[in-house]
Amino acid sequence: MKRRELLKLAALTAALLTTTAMLASGAHAQDKKWKIGFSQVTTIEPWRAQFNKDILAEAAKHPEVELIVTDGEDKTEKQVADVENLIRQEVDALLVSPKESAGLTGVVQQAIDAKIPVFVLDRNVETNDYTQFVGGDNKLIGRAAGEYAVELLGGKGKAAGNVVEIWGGMGTQPAHDRHDGFHEFTDKEPGIKNLLDQQSGDWKQDQAYNIMATALRNNEKIDLVYGHNDPMAYGAYLAAKDAGREKDIKFIGIDGLPNEGVQLVANGELTATFTYVTPGAEGLRQAIKFLNGEKVEKTIILPTQKITKENAAQILKDNGL
Ligand code: FRU
Repeated sequence: MKRRELLKLAALTAALLTTTAMLASGAHAQDKKWKIGFSQVTTIEPWRAQFNKDILAEAAKHPEVELIVTDGEDKTEKQVADVENLIRQEVDALLVSPKESAGLTGVVQQAIDAKIPVFVLDRNVETNDYTQFVGGDNKLIGRAAGEYAVELLGGKGKAAGNVVEIWGGMGTQPAHDRHDGFHEFTDKEPGIKNLLDQQSGDWKQDQAYNIMATALRNNEKIDLVYGHNDPMAYGAYLAAKDAGREKDIKFIGIDGLPNEGVQLVANGELTATFTYVTPGAEGLRQAIKFLNGEKVEKTIILPTQKITKENAAQILKDNGL
């Protein structure tokens, strides 16, 4: 082949390659994936593990979505770095379930400023400037727990007993709401005495165990424990069991995961729990809806249910357990 023909062929090949690349990118543009980032606070607690499972199962139903999940390892600094990273990756939407309100507010604001739609899940931040909040109504759940505690301690106007309340993380709205709702009922009962003053187990079973072990040493009579989540109610139960006093005490928790809280109620270890549905599936569905140009509401509240030994076995059965 002559040199000129060779050059012609090279030019033709180059043109062909460019066209192919353009076609390929055109095709790519058509099946563009939504890149969605989800910043989870931790993965070690059972409710968080279920939350991640729920969001991944929902993502699997949407081939148009690429979901990036990060783990804040239960540290604000790590979670802030995770969100900054997702912003740098230019995600189309950000879902965040914060460790605590104050520490995550700045970085959520950064995402909003970068025009990334933000979906806040379960625990809030200190701005209303996000796209949507999805979570349970913790005040309502606290009220339901308080109403039931009054019933367990003798009924309205007659309730009497010593109560140990173990708070979740002090920097989180769910802990405050769960406290406030509960006390709307129990504070009306002069016979109910609160033994502790704002003791936080930071949502953890082992910390709750230690708080309860001390409370048991300091108080001869404890009638009811209210843990702001099931792992803490169970930690308190274990401390009471180790002290040989678990039969004298009622234990109330929150979360109601079938293979955790519901099972503990069915076993007679917890007296009651209240479901706190994870916002994993609904949060992702809402983000996709928004990215597809549909309107979304500012707040989505997920339902709750009281679980006692009356309905625990049925719930286990319904969940194939
Ligand atoms: C898990 C958890 C749940 C609780 C929720 C409150 O991290 O502690 O047990 O219901 O967070 O935000």
